[in-house]
Amino acid sequence: MSAVSGRVEATRGFYDTVAGAYARLLPDTRAEAPLDLGVIDHFVACLPASDLPVLDAGCGTGRMLSALAARGVSRRHGVDLSPAMIAEARARHAEVPLTVADLADLPFADRSFAGVLCWYAIIHSTPAEVAAIAAELHRVLIPGGVIALGFQAGTGERVIERAYGHDITLHGVRHETDTVAALLSAAGFDILVRVDRAPHGGEHSAQGFVIAARR
Ligand SMILES: C[S@@+](CC[C@H](N)C(=O)[O-])C[C@H]1O[C@@H](n2cnc3c(N)ncnc32)[C@H](O)[C@@H]1O
Repeated sequence: MSAVSGRVEATRGFYDTVAGAYARLLPDTRAEAPLDLGVIDHFVACLPASDLPVLDAGCGTGRMLSALAARGVSRRHGVDLSPAMIAEARARHAEVPLTVADLADLPFADRSFAGVLCWYAIIHSTPAEVAAIAAELHRVLIPGGVIALGFQAGTGERVIERAYGHDITLHGVRHETDTVAALLSAAGFDILVRVDRAPHGGEHSAQGFVIAARR
């Protein structure tokens, strides 16, 4: 495994600190808007027939592992940067293999997965880091395998100074949906869906979603 940047270390430290509160405050997908849940439904509908698992990339405490199971995806694997987030996921999903790793440097063989759900895991990564993550997720997917991403849409970084009841600083990065689609396309994906929506409820950002298939 290669050394991770100070930025990635900061993200890991942030989620290690907030893991318990994140699990308590965001236990399921009730915070997702209907369109977001529709994106996950569509992702599952696009998965190729395969015995290979779906990777929850940036699985955090594992709430999307439950969302996948509820949609009939029984073979799952979770990976996340934060050991504390993975510990929370392990407490809820003893049946699912879970790995601590950086999405830009995954300890999985080529073509290990039929699908990748990457739900709000690129929201602290620069566009250059997203390009590296896209290349790595392309490597671990089979041809025809499908990826879905959700993220805060727009431009620029914001500084998070309080989150999940903790005073803790981290940079959040918004991404234009077209930029994410272009990075995926350059990494070898065909774009199936790109959509963004205006903020809903108490959200501060628009939200972007992309579904793509490995060429
Ligand atoms: C906002 S949480 C989302 C967690 C989960 N997908 C969900 O929807 O609840 C972001 C997660 O992405 C993980 N993450 C961020 N950057 C990562 C990276 N480079 N590699 C692996 N995980 C990363 C964080 O540790 C954190 O658990």
